Amino acid sequence: MKTQKIFGVIGHPIGHSLSPVMHNAAFKELGLDYRYEAYDVTPEGLEKFLMLRHTPPFGGLNATVPHKVAAIKYMDVLDESAKLAGAVNTIKFDGRKTTGYNTDGIGCVRALEEAGEKISGKRILVLGAGGAARAIAYACITGGASVTLSNRTREKAMRLAQEIREKTKNTVVVVNYEEKSLKDAISRTDAVINTTTVGMMPHVADSPLPASVLESRVVVMDIVYNPQETRLLQDAKAAGCKTVDGIGMLVHQGAESLKIWLGVDAPTAAMKAAVEKELGA
Ligand code: ATR
Repeated sequence: MKTQKIFGVIGHPIGHSLSPVMHNAAFKELGLDYRYEAYDVTPEGLEKFLMLRHTPPFGGLNATVPHKVAAIKYMDVLDESAKLAGAVNTIKFDGRKTTGYNTDGIGCVRALEEAGEKISGKRILVLGAGGAARAIAYACITGGASVTLSNRTREKAMRLAQEIREKTKNTVVVVNYEEKSLKDAISRTDAVINTTTVGMMPHVADSPLPASVLESRVVVMDIVYNPQETRLLQDAKAAGCKTVDGIGMLVHQGAESLKIWLGVDAPTAAMKAAVEKELGA
């Protein structure tokens, strides 16, 4: 059967992306003769690339660093998820119409739910105030959780908290990014989500939280997936905490993209196996 649809991820650089392996495993599992590729697109080349790809056989794209914010201005329609996050990570081509979505936040929430953690009513401490933090904070609030933010650059957390307050009428507390304040915040927290890049390969000895602030009743999630078990998750396990690694979010944000493009439930087990195999390789 000939290939009917092409999908892909745009980024710069893009060589390290796990998305092709993950999505091609999903297509195979679904019995679809589609393919998913990685495209190295520079910021200057973004507009032209999107113009050339928005007709069949292209079905849709994921956008990653540095295109998530820039892609917004080339969308005909923005889904609420992309409006709130202020960034697009999933693009659907539909006839001549281009719609931008953001599945990072819902991917994080789904990963927590899959780990047995319903987020409604939970008190969640989000570390970071970058693009990932934005999407995750909004998704947590939309899902009925209350959010506290802590970020190295406090001003950025304050701005995000203010914006969330204006858009959702929810109060978001900001705590200082230092040991005593974090310990205090954790005593009033059910789950911590690290959205910072701290602990990512090659800086595997670093953690965004001092181990001394962890309490065993708190669930600790890291969205960093390389390494799969970050220093933060090691410390959390040693403290007796339940942990959720970053592969869950990677898989579920991809699964939500597939649902947007194809309208089907994604084969998340096959996607996860493909990612773990690639990371282990
Ligand atoms: P992303 O889109 O993945 O969220 P980002 O927008 O660059 O990436 O955000 C990176 C986050 O990691 C920020 O919250 C950043 O803190 P600052 O706002 O102070 O820059 C955080 N971060 C990066 N390196 C850090 C470090 N060494 N210690 C603490 N936080 C760090």
